[in-house]
Amino acid sequence: MRVAVTGGLGRIGRAVVAELAAHGQETVQVDVAPMRAQPPGYRRADLRELWQAVDALDGVDAVVHLAATGVPDSHTLHPELAEGATFTANATSTYNVFQAAAVHGIRRVVWASSETVLGPPFRVAGPAHLPLDEDHPVRPETSYALSKATGEELARHFAHRCGMTLVALRFSVVMDGTDYAALPGYWAEPERGRWNLWSYVDLADVAVGCRLALAAERPGATAVTLAAPDTLSDRPTAELLGTYYKEVRVTGPLGTFESLQSSARAGELLGWRPARSWRGGGG
Ligand SMILES: NC(=O)c1ccc[n+]([C@@H]2O[C@H](COP(=O)([O-])OP(=O)(O)OC[C@H]3O[C@@H](n4cnc5c(N)ncnc54)[C@H](O)[C@@H]3O)[C@@H](O)[C@H]2O)c1
Repeated sequence: MRVAVTGGLGRIGRAVVAELAAHGQETVQVDVAPMRAQPPGYRRADLRELWQAVDALDGVDAVVHLAATGVPDSHTLHPELAEGATFTANATSTYNVFQAAAVHGIRRVVWASSETVLGPPFRVAGPAHLPLDEDHPVRPETSYALSKATGEELARHFAHRCGMTLVALRFSVVMDGTDYAALPGYWAEPERGRWNLWSYVDLADVAVGCRLALAAERPGATAVTLAAPDTLSDRPTAELLGTYYKEVRVTGPLGTFESLQSSARAGELLGWRPARSWRGGGG
């Protein structure tokens, strides 16, 4: 199988390309980043333009769509303009990638949504229940999150109209070893993790999730959370809940450091089980 990985030069994209290569799959890295010497398998494209997306996906069997612009920097001079640019870039690129896949008759797209579609940073309203799961209402609070929620609506449209299979992976904050080294500083201020429930997911597990989603027998549009099994905090989950979210309904018993974002659905539908934790092993 030949897989186009959009955002293939980004942090997650490079890990996905390596994971797919390790499993014998050919990849095409699609990215807007200019490169002096273009490596084999690299196609430069700005996915905000439909024709460039159509050219970039020529001759591939499946797509992992990761290209996006992140949350605007809080020190941006005109934050409201940056917010609009983020929404427009991400929603447009996602439409263009799905449409280009349809043009080429590509039946399978795996793509990066985000935990933020469910409400983080919870400035407008707290969680409806915890742990967050796929039954939680979608209620984005930022233009970045809205661009991802819009992508999920676009996925339903393309599944309905073209019979495509589209799997949205709602990544938590993606981390690896270098990030884990900085955790002691984070523990000193536990409120810093409140915005996303002290959640994260390991980069290598994300790459495995993308590979499994490419193979999943799941017609239509699906969205699942990918989060580590534990929190980033050194404090027990019950203590965090009691301090920061005591008014929120908790739907079941929780382990000592168990995550407040459930990935159970990804386990059921994709066979994805997070294998890595900053605590070592499976958390
Ligand atoms: N990193 C996280 O913690 C996290 C969490 C949730 C979701 N996500 C999502 O995962 C995906 C990948 O994230 P990442 O951390 O690897 O980001 P990244 O910034 O490292 O990589 C994104 C890549 O997309 C490319 N890109 C951006 N706009 C493009 C365009 N118009 N056309 C073509 N290429 C373009 C960039 O050049 C870059 O190489 C994104 O969709 C992001 O929203 C990331």
